[in-house]
Amino acid sequence: MTRILFVCLGNICRSPAAEAVFRDKAQAAGLSVEIDSAGTGGWHVGKKPDARMIAAAKTRGYDLRKLRGRQVDMGDFYMFDLILPMDASNMADLRDLAPPDGKAELRPFLSFGVGGDVPDPYHGGRSGFETVLDMIEHAADGLVRSLKAQHG
Ligand code: 4NP
Repeated sequence: MTRILFVCLGNICRSPAAEAVFRDKAQAAGLSVEIDSAGTGGWHVGKKPDARMIAAAKTRGYDLRKLRGRQVDMGDFYMFDLILPMDASNMADLRDLAPPDGKAELRPFLSFGVGGDVPDPYHGGRSGFETVLDMIEHAADGLVRSLKAQHG
């Protein structure tokens, strides 16, 4: 069982999408994983994902409606095996928060795809959400392959 936490800034756009996309792909691949997402910021705790992301993800068959925002906490660094931030700013914030004896490996999510950052779509237009979903689907496939190679 591998425990994986996806992290972005608000936990209403990128990381909930990554959680839902990867959950579907991991299940289809028969992987034994536990999956969650969280934000480094606390503005949207308890809130549903952004309506624009719910709509964009729905057209690709992913259901984000039951997810609710939460903030990263100290326990996450002990609970999870892998913590996967969406961009370099999320990574820097996680490194600042991480306790010295935390067991989670911090690694950029797109290191399983094309590398670089998943851009923050919150203040952009509709195409931003599609681009984000393209990147997330691609990296999620890479993450599935990586876990399959590790665990058979
Ligand atoms: P996310 O997008 O990090 O992909 O969930 C954002 C959502 C909200 C805010 C920033 C980014 N915000 O500033 O409220």
